[in-house]
Amino acid sequence: MKILFIGDIYGHVGRRIVADHLADIRSSQAIDLVIANAENSAGGFGITPMIGEELIALGIDVLTGGNHSFDKKESYDYYARQPRLLRPANFPDGVPGSGIYQNQTASQVPYAVLNLQGRTHMTPIDDPFRKADALLNSLDPSVKIRFVDFHAEATSEKVAMGWYLNGRVTAVIGTHTHVPTADTRILSGGTAYQTDAGMTGPYDSVIGVDRDIILHRFLSAMPVRMEAAKAMVELHSVIIDADQTTGRALSIRRHTICGE
Ligand SMILES: [Fe+2]
Ligand SMILES: [Fe+2]
Repeated sequence: MKILFIGDIYGHVGRRIVADHLADIRSSQAIDLVIANAENSAGGFGITPMIGEELIALGIDVLTGGNHSFDKKESYDYYARQPRLLRPANFPDGVPGSGIYQNQTASQVPYAVLNLQGRTHMTPIDDPFRKADALLNSLDPSVKIRFVDFHAEATSEKVAMGWYLNGRVTAVIGTHTHVPTADTRILSGGTAYQTDAGMTGPYDSVIGVDRDIILHRFLSAMPVRMEAAKAMVELHSVIIDADQTTGRALSIRRHTICGE
């Protein structure tokens, strides 16, 4: 079975390139399961109920999140209502939503999607490694397809998570840096890995934000008002082919589409 994972969808230009191409990718690549990180889908900051439903209606089965998951207050109730929308599982207890989603594909293949967030150079939340253990232990052994979006800043923490979960999950794919990495590989235990899927959004920017604004911030050290950039839109994703009987990844490759 084939899994498509789309990296951080950024703002309306990111949503538009997904809307323009997802149906074609889904059919031409025979995709069974579509997962996308949507923490920046609302103008770069968070997600709203309307945008969440829009992305699900496009054919995304599971939406993952990260440090921007709760940027929009109107999303708090939505997390409780929409189980397909995840936030990192290792946020403190009591935070709205969940970090794990389980279902079956159209061809009845059970799967689980886990969302975790790193702690290096990020808000110090609960331990993502031990949270991963707890979540994986909670799964029925019949659920072989197990996908992890590890939302983290440090490449070292992401590589470490890949090795920690090697052989226990189908894939560990990183998000958050908005820069795709070229270390696409299958680890020794059959886990597909890439440090960062890259952003699906405007690359004429500094990780999605208008570049003049960010340059001003670096040159002046003054606070700035962030605004989403709009040009050089690219869709960055990975396509994983997995053995549904073992959960092992058979192949992984990057799939990139350049828009305007
Ligand atoms: Fe992001
Ligand atoms: Fe992030």
